[in-house]
Amino acid sequence: MLKEVTATRYVTPLREGGSLPGLVEADDLGLYVMKFTGAGQGRKTLVAEVVCGELARRLGLRVPRLVTLGLDPVLGLGEPEQQVQDLLRASAGTNLGMDFLSGALGFDPLAFPVDSAEAGRIVWFDALINNVDRSWRNPNLLVHRGELWLIDHGATMIWHHNWPGAAASAARPYDASDHALARCAPDVAGAAAALAPLVTEELLAEVTAEIPDVWLADEPGFETPDDLRRAYARPLLDRAPLVHERVTGIGTETSGREGTGTEASGREGTGTGASGREGTRTHTRTGTQEGK
Ligand SMILES: Nc1ncnc2c1ncn2[C@@H]1O[C@H](COP(=O)(O)OP(=O)(O)O)[C@@H](O)[C@H]1O
Ligand SMILES: [Mg+2]
Repeated sequence: MLKEVTATRYVTPLREGGSLPGLVEADDLGLYVMKFTGAGQGRKTLVAEVVCGELARRLGLRVPRLVTLGLDPVLGLGEPEQQVQDLLRASAGTNLGMDFLSGALGFDPLAFPVDSAEAGRIVWFDALINNVDRSWRNPNLLVHRGELWLIDHGATMIWHHNWPGAAASAARPYDASDHALARCAPDVAGAAAALAPLVTEELLAEVTAEIPDVWLADEPGFETPDDLRRAYARPLLDRAPLVHERVTGIGTETSGREGTGTEASGREGTGTGASGREGTRTHTRTGTQEGK
């Protein structure tokens, strides 16, 4: 179970991404980045954050700790911005929180070298979850105390938007030519050898058990939240042993920034909430209003 805390103060919106996460204080006095059930794609985005974040953590990748954040929409009444008020009003109940990494910097590949082993692990993991939101324009990687942290797994697992087609969708390749770490010589095969065997039914049962029931209720085609948890596990189990053979766009012959036309079909997910997120930000301090 994720730790449960309750939001006590809305501090400020974080304006870099598209989903308007907020910085909030909670009743344990912690500072959290809050992701709202009432935003954009709603609760599926939050389910993806939990499944991918908790899986990444168990594979040894750095992800800020996740909690559930209870929200009383009364908190938004004093907010001057209509957009923020609306979001808070639409998000009563259980939302997602993530430890705020104070002073973290947005990843800049020119300022922070990543070795091929670590780049390989991250690219392999993104291929596994079909992450369409870790491009060099919008890396969703933070540098905190000299280490790389993964954030923002909302635009992943495209298959959960269409369960009847999930198996076919999960068999698709992954085009990494735009990936933030495509130029760090990612050792994807080495990562696969180390990490794929860890992705077992038991591990995924543990990971999916972390999803709050309220975000799984009433999904068409599923009787119980646990049925849906098993559906989340299936494509990941199927993909883990072979996805490294289906990663395109990181060979020496390709260079993502120029766009050499390696448009593999694995990126069809860019229409599911990731669109319009990409900014030109590099190396900005987080936790402040960027005004964009
Ligand atoms: N745990 C965190 N610690 C510090 N800053 C964060 C954290 N999570 C997000 N941010 C900041 O907020 C921005 C938006 O968060 P993100 O999860 O990428 O949401 P979006 O879905 O809107 O892109 C990030 O680019 C980063 O600057
Ligand atoms: Mg983002």
